[in-house]
Amino acid sequence: MKPTLKPHNPCFSSGPCAKHPGWSLEALQKAAVGRSHRAKIGKAKLAEVIERSRKLLGMPADYVLGIVPASDTGAVEMAMWSLLGQRGVDVLAWESFSSGWAGDCKSQLKLADLRVLKAGYGDLPDLTQVDWNRDVVFAWNGTTSGVKVPNGDWIAADRAGLSICDATSAVFAMDIAWDKLDVVTWSWQKVLGGEGGHGMIALSPRAVERLETYPAPRPLPKIFQMTKGGKLIAGIFTGETINTPSLLCVEDALDGLQWAESVGGLPGLIARSQANLKAIEDWVADSAWAGFLPKEAATRSNTSICLRITDPAYGALTAEAQDKHAKSIVSLLDKEGVAYDIGAYRDAPAGLRIWGGATVDTSDLHALLPWLDWAYGEVRKGF
Ligand SMILES: Cc1ncc(COP(=O)(O)O)c(C=O)c1O
Repeated sequence: MKPTLKPHNPCFSSGPCAKHPGWSLEALQKAAVGRSHRAKIGKAKLAEVIERSRKLLGMPADYVLGIVPASDTGAVEMAMWSLLGQRGVDVLAWESFSSGWAGDCKSQLKLADLRVLKAGYGDLPDLTQVDWNRDVVFAWNGTTSGVKVPNGDWIAADRAGLSICDATSAVFAMDIAWDKLDVVTWSWQKVLGGEGGHGMIALSPRAVERLETYPAPRPLPKIFQMTKGGKLIAGIFTGETINTPSLLCVEDALDGLQWAESVGGLPGLIARSQANLKAIEDWVADSAWAGFLPKEAATRSNTSICLRITDPAYGALTAEAQDKHAKSIVSLLDKEGVAYDIGAYRDAPAGLRIWGGATVDTSDLHALLPWLDWAYGEVRKGF
């Protein structure tokens, strides 16, 4: 039967993610638009984003945090381009974005001593194979397969290499092991539902030491440069951005951080996201047609929740037909105004991906789940 109750907010995209409950354009009223980001007011707002983020995330006091261009991609690539080459590199690749970083290391940076530890969609590479004498690049949460690392226990405390972590779909939703990470990156458009275009990069003292003692063996565009004359450009980490940010986006980021504080800070955000995963887990447990793409429950993402269709009749279809029918579910729900952007990522196996980060209300997922059953039933009539 077609459900009647619809989610209050049908936005379940994995980025840009849903705005927080109660968000409106009013939140941007105090934006310092038309002002210089280098004026006192602009700099103060940028510094406030940094300070509130540090505090909310419980970042170690001796780490630095900066706002950088080009979203999470900009942050990850500036780290890789600036830091890699001194020693061998291990990259963990198990879905689209982490595979992209492996591709950068191989084809763009052309690193001489590179190992890519791979796994397919749904799995993690064998984490015991990582060599901590080398630098290691990985994503905390693989957004396109919904597979996350379960914790930081596999990262050596006494590592000689640097751990470089793309945490864009993990920070503000998962407990990440700060003391095991030397570079952590994310963007505003993810868990707190901010706007695109701006990235953040956190550096441990060891990452800063590498930057100051190892000049990158390649040309660096201006937007990747974090040192000058062998010294960290400290201003980047106090709100003096490398180039011009959007002060409208800055205001929105501040609004997101304040909302995050209002729901109990990091523990509150994690609890909201875990409740979202639980809602889907309970539904999957009773489902005759849907299952999780991640094979292990401990690696199941609570942000980018990836589902596959387990119905044997669907499994018997050609890959092309499977893809077509999965897309039909997505477009049916879109048309009904029930769920937007819940298709699997373009490189991932056919299925659904539902964002469960903190800005999504669990009640909206409860409203969505009967619609998934309805839409699958409709599509199932066609095969
Ligand atoms: C793990 C991961 N890395 C990188 C990116 C790219 O992020 P951005 O578009 O913010 O640069 C994404 C976006 O979804 C992601 O999920």
